Amino acid sequence: MDQKQQNDFDLHRRGGEDPEQHLQRLRIGENLSRIKRKFMVISGKGGVGKTTVAVNLAAALAADGFTVGLLDADIHGPNTALMLGREEGRIEPGRPGEIKPIEIGPRLKVLSMAFLLGDPGQAVIWRGPLKMGVIKQFLSDFQWGDLDFLVVDLPPGTGDEPLSVAQLIPDLEGAIIVTTPQKVALLDGRKCVDFTRQIKVGVVGLVENMSGFSCPHCGKEIEIFKSGGGEAAAKELGIPFLGRIPLDPRMVISGDEGHPFVDGHPEAEAARALREIIRKIVGEDKPV
Ligand SMILES: Nc1ncnc2c1ncn2[C@@H]1O[C@H](COP(=O)(O)OP(=O)(O)O)[C@@H](O)[C@H]1O
Ligand SMILES: [Mg+2]
Repeated sequence: MDQKQQNDFDLHRRGGEDPEQHLQRLRIGENLSRIKRKFMVISGKGGVGKTTVAVNLAAALAADGFTVGLLDADIHGPNTALMLGREEGRIEPGRPGEIKPIEIGPRLKVLSMAFLLGDPGQAVIWRGPLKMGVIKQFLSDFQWGDLDFLVVDLPPGTGDEPLSVAQLIPDLEGAIIVTTPQKVALLDGRKCVDFTRQIKVGVVGLVENMSGFSCPHCGKEIEIFKSGGGEAAAKELGIPFLGRIPLDPRMVISGDEGHPFVDGHPEAEAARALREIIRKIVGEDKPV
């Protein structure tokens, strides 16, 4: 510990913070200071495509030459490991600050509760403080290294996990809200926007997923969950609309088989839409 850290340490000890907590807070600060841009992916509802968007965003950024960390903060239902073909991945034990996330290729690292469970079918039955504790450890004890992006995937809703992430990552650039086009999902999307306002996290924009479907037999457009609702809601809520991703059955197969869709089907309309959304999120940023 250098002198500044020592002073800080003593100060907080006097203030009642226990030394272990204090060191953990320092490690989180150190880890986060080495990551340039941080986003979280949220939704009001489950099954709308958050993990799909998070995994494809992370994979596409890594393919473009950025260094990326994907933090799966869905403690009860971690799916990133499966969607990246690493369901069998396990974390090697180590000392705080020295444990490594799982590497998926040279520029993408992922960390998920799935890597800590003995059996993928095991249920995690934890209350808020325990979940906050594990998210803290994910941010403090693991060596994320220098990264261009951190993408945080979250469970649906406005509960403990997004709240913990927002508290622990104070310089979050913003939330990417995923919704499907029908009214019931949009109502939850609106709650998400209200949530971000209450916890003072910016909104990057809204993605309308599962928006329309092109029949592979006749080419006719079928609106399974309708379309356009997300865009209208974004306008009404005064937040940026990032784009529409159509339904594509190959996306389900890609997810189940553990290959990011943007890599496997770059020509698909849904992949084009995803890339366009990513371009809006990243802006003019270029890998160095
Ligand atoms: N645009 C899409 N077209 C077809 N299937 C999709 C699309 N987006 C997501 N899916 C599928 O829907 C299911 C739920 O997606 P997921 O990303 O797990 O949602 P969430 O993380 O919001 O619960 C997955 O099987 C995924 O492959
Ligand atoms: Mg998910």
